[in-house]
Amino acid sequence: MKQDNKEYMKYNLSYDLNEQSLISPLDSISPLFEPKIRLGILASGNGSNFEYIIKSIQTKQLYAEISILIVNNPNCLAIKKAIKYKIPYVIINHRDCKSRFEHDMLVMKKLEDFSVELVVMAGWMRIVGEEIINKFENRLINIHPSLLPSFKGVDAIQQAIDKRVTITGCTVHYVQKEVDSGLIIIQAAVPINENDNKETLKKRIQNMEHIILPLAIAKVAKNLRTKFKDNK
Ligand code: GRF
Repeated sequence: MKQDNKEYMKYNLSYDLNEQSLISPLDSISPLFEPKIRLGILASGNGSNFEYIIKSIQTKQLYAEISILIVNNPNCLAIKKAIKYKIPYVIINHRDCKSRFEHDMLVMKKLEDFSVELVVMAGWMRIVGEEIINKFENRLINIHPSLLPSFKGVDAIQQAIDKRVTITGCTVHYVQKEVDSGLIIIQAAVPINENDNKETLKKRIQNMEHIILPLAIAKVAKNLRTKFKDNK
């Protein structure tokens, strides 16, 4: 681990890696690209990942702008964060739609209206349909609180505790039709301690999520920009 931490320090990052955690791959660290990537964030809950994306942009670790936050739940705390940081947001409540398809179409239209290049599902508690997946091929990513392919689906942290594994973590991956199954972009491992309960473990996993999600965004953005250059 010591060796790995030195590796991180070489890149002059402003965060300290917890000695007991491991991020892989290391080549995900702060890749450079331009121009800024335009992000659309989908969130349903507290929005802590959303807030850390904002902070990474503010501290210039991520060269991006958030074009729009879309939430499906009018009570979600992510809205408060959008207001605090003056990020445009819209509520598209799935309960007001007749079908999942109708909801997906409204979400997709909004992403297009705001010229979003990369869509980040940061605690989006909905399964997205094929139309969005195809429209944003290689431009739609999700964060999941386990080391995929273990513990897909709901309550991944409790699943890991129940199985008595000693290491779990979090994963950022591309979204494909099968839930929590797309190509993995970056992962962080988090040990489960004997005294851990769901809340203590969740806190440590989320600390790592807040680090790897901006790194994954930068990595995907760099790929998109490189592709664009090659196509010219
Ligand atoms: C995260 O733990 C993420 O892995 C999962 O939903 C949670 C969202 O947390 N998909 P927050 O809303 O970003 O605080």
